[in-house]
Amino acid sequence: MSSDLFSLAGRVAVVTGGAGQLGRAIVAGLEERGAEVAVFDLAADRYRVDVTDRAELENAVDEVVRELGVPHVLVNAAALDSPPDAPAEEVGPLESYPEASFDEVMSVNVKGTFLPCQLVGARMAAEGRGSIVNVSSVYGMLSPVQDLYEFRRRGGEEFFKPVAYSVSKSALYNLTRYLATYWAKSGVRVNTLTLAGVANDQPREFVEAYAERMPLGRMADVGEVVGPVVFLASDASSYVTGANLVADGGWSAW
Ligand SMILES: NC(=O)c1ccc[n+]([C@@H]2O[C@H](COP(=O)([O-])OP(=O)(O)OC[C@H]3O[C@@H](n4cnc5c(N)ncnc54)[C@H](O)[C@@H]3O)[C@@H](O)[C@H]2O)c1
Repeated sequence: MSSDLFSLAGRVAVVTGGAGQLGRAIVAGLEERGAEVAVFDLAADRYRVDVTDRAELENAVDEVVRELGVPHVLVNAAALDSPPDAPAEEVGPLESYPEASFDEVMSVNVKGTFLPCQLVGARMAAEGRGSIVNVSSVYGMLSPVQDLYEFRRRGGEEFFKPVAYSVSKSALYNLTRYLATYWAKSGVRVNTLTLAGVANDQPREFVEAYAERMPLGRMADVGEVVGPVVFLASDASSYVTGANLVADGGWSAW
């Protein structure tokens, strides 16, 4: 074990969704701690992968193992969500939420987390070590507070934070617990990281309503997701598995 508990020197990491808003910060944070990072993303330069496509993932994992070695860390951050300014058909009433959207969100967020776990986790288990971090959301742990979107309904629109994102993020908790116990004796730790809203130029009315509901009184800065990921990825969390690390500004505390 390194004398710096949080060091990732010499470690290889795969970050799905690593080209996204949070993914980019997570990649930079892992690199800063010494890891070599492979980004698996539809928008990646090097490993352009659809996380719902097993064959593409197998090829990408083979390439990473050849080029960098068997990953020590896997962060699953690829996901589909509907932002506060999403188009009308995605964010209408539950009663007419499109079945195709439900299938797509479930596929990317659940199968697209399961497959990288299955393929990378198997390699890690064969090496007898590894840490997997599945990124979930307070909207997967608790129902969205639909009142936060009242400003849109006041403007005459119908707007509800959609159901599929919540359902899909919820599934990650037991995927994590299942895998954590399954691979515990093989040295692979698996944890969920639950995050709340991260500032990203959202509409002012949304940010104000969110901040008012949030004990810390503000949305997270994107850099604030790095610490929890580094903790879970590194030896600092060597006795933590099957857990849910909640970094939500206190959202779930009341
Ligand atoms: N941003 C937030 O406020 C927030 C809050 C809580 C949880 N989260 C979670 O954090 C993670 C990252 O969120 P973000 O805000 O950076 O999202 P984002 O939309 O900026 O990034 C998601 C990335 O996933 C990639 N992606 C989507 N579908 C893919 C597929 N089929 N195959 C490969 N890559 C695919 C996209 O290309 C994108 O780069 C997500 O799991 C999200 O649910 C985000």
